[in-house]
Amino acid sequence: MATDIGNFFKSGHQKSNPMDKIVVKEGGPLHGHVRVSGSKNAALPVLVSSLLVGGKTTFRNVPGLMDIHSILSLLGELGATVHRNGDIVTIDATTIDCVEAPYDLVRKMRASILVLGPLVARMGRAKVSMPGGCAIGDRPIDLHLKGLEAMGATISLEHGYVEASAHRLKGAHIIFDIVSVGATENLMMAATLAEGVTTLSNAAQEPEIIALADVLCAMGAQIKGAGTPEITITGVTELSPAEADIIPDRIEAGTFMVAAAMTGGDVVVDACEPKHMEATLKKLEEAGATLEVGIDSVRVIGPKTIKSVDIRTAPYPGFPTDMQAQFMAMLTRADGTSVIHETIFENRFIHVSELKRMGAEIGIKGKDVATVNGVKHLSGAPVMASDLRASASLILSGLVAEGETIVNRVYHLDRGYEHIETKLRGLGATIKRVKE
Ligand code: UD1
Repeated sequence: MATDIGNFFKSGHQKSNPMDKIVVKEGGPLHGHVRVSGSKNAALPVLVSSLLVGGKTTFRNVPGLMDIHSILSLLGELGATVHRNGDIVTIDATTIDCVEAPYDLVRKMRASILVLGPLVARMGRAKVSMPGGCAIGDRPIDLHLKGLEAMGATISLEHGYVEASAHRLKGAHIIFDIVSVGATENLMMAATLAEGVTTLSNAAQEPEIIALADVLCAMGAQIKGAGTPEITITGVTELSPAEADIIPDRIEAGTFMVAAAMTGGDVVVDACEPKHMEATLKKLEEAGATLEVGIDSVRVIGPKTIKSVDIRTAPYPGFPTDMQAQFMAMLTRADGTSVIHETIFENRFIHVSELKRMGAEIGIKGKDVATVNGVKHLSGAPVMASDLRASASLILSGLVAEGETIVNRVYHLDRGYEHIETKLRGLGATIKRVKE
């Protein structure tokens, strides 16, 4: 194993201390241009796909985030040689000599489960710590395991680990009970080296699935239908190294667009992919924002007053659950009442209690419906971030709340936003990180 990611944070990539805080002061409308980084959720499976290949793969536009650091550490732990230079990462998995993803790495990031399929497919065996529950729900991995079992793997669960083995996986027809991004990715990777044809029905259609399929095809995999509910993978015996660019982060882009809209600003979000954000753009327009959509940019001009809108999260191309908290932050100051249905995760309203501490009026019905009555003012307060997108919603609220908002537990934010405070400062926000 050789990893050269120790200097990961030197070239400006931020390293968070769990005790860091972000202090945001009420400011005026945001103005200017902001550039979107590579997508975290696209990069994670794409980096993992290097496990399928003997040889050196190269990825560009890889964001400098804690979650990326965690997955690269895991790949290094498995025996891959990992180098990072700015946003370019090279991984050589010729040398993998370990098939175990230990508890300490998996507990930091659930996406570590993505190594399961590729390891079984290439090495015939994998032992991965079971990801525990997390702030936004139980998030089981049964679909990943059932799919591998259908492909002939023997699965056992012991001492908190899942062990899977198969001499060679076999193609199968897998029909997912519910749409899962992670299970689609895991099984699509596993199927590339299986014997015969695998069909994934009711597959996730997210842009990140297409991005992963593109990389796998560049490696020599035979995949058809990525981006539709039915993906067909014809197994090959070997894949070869490839190079790829990570697609823009549609959730980071959406977060800046909401920031522009809710502050009544005028912001151009550059280096994004508007085609990946249609549901988000539509809801921004409904909320009163004026949009100018370019090929790889979106200009957002915020309205004087935000209009209330109803939102229902759904798998892609529906409204993304990862934008729900940010929209809720915006709608706390809308004219009227908005109803938000969260249909993907059962416990994804933890930010509500913190937003209420800032003066928002939000009622929760059952576990999945929130009613947001717009108020004229929010007031700054010390608040606690509970998960990644919840952290973003608190920062957005801080931009328009009277006085000062102090967001604690910033490490959640650093898992998924590259330099958010620097980028927001570039748009005129008064925001800083306070190191403890
Ligand atoms: C991915 C994204 C995450 C996003 C989510 C939904 C990454 C790294 N993370 O997470 O940011 O919020 O998609 O768009 O890409 N489920 C099961 N059994 C399983 C797998 C999932 O019941 O085996 C359930 C989950 O609990 C959830 C739903 O399926 O209710 C969707 O989850 P899934 O699409 O798998 O989310 P992730 O891939 O974990």
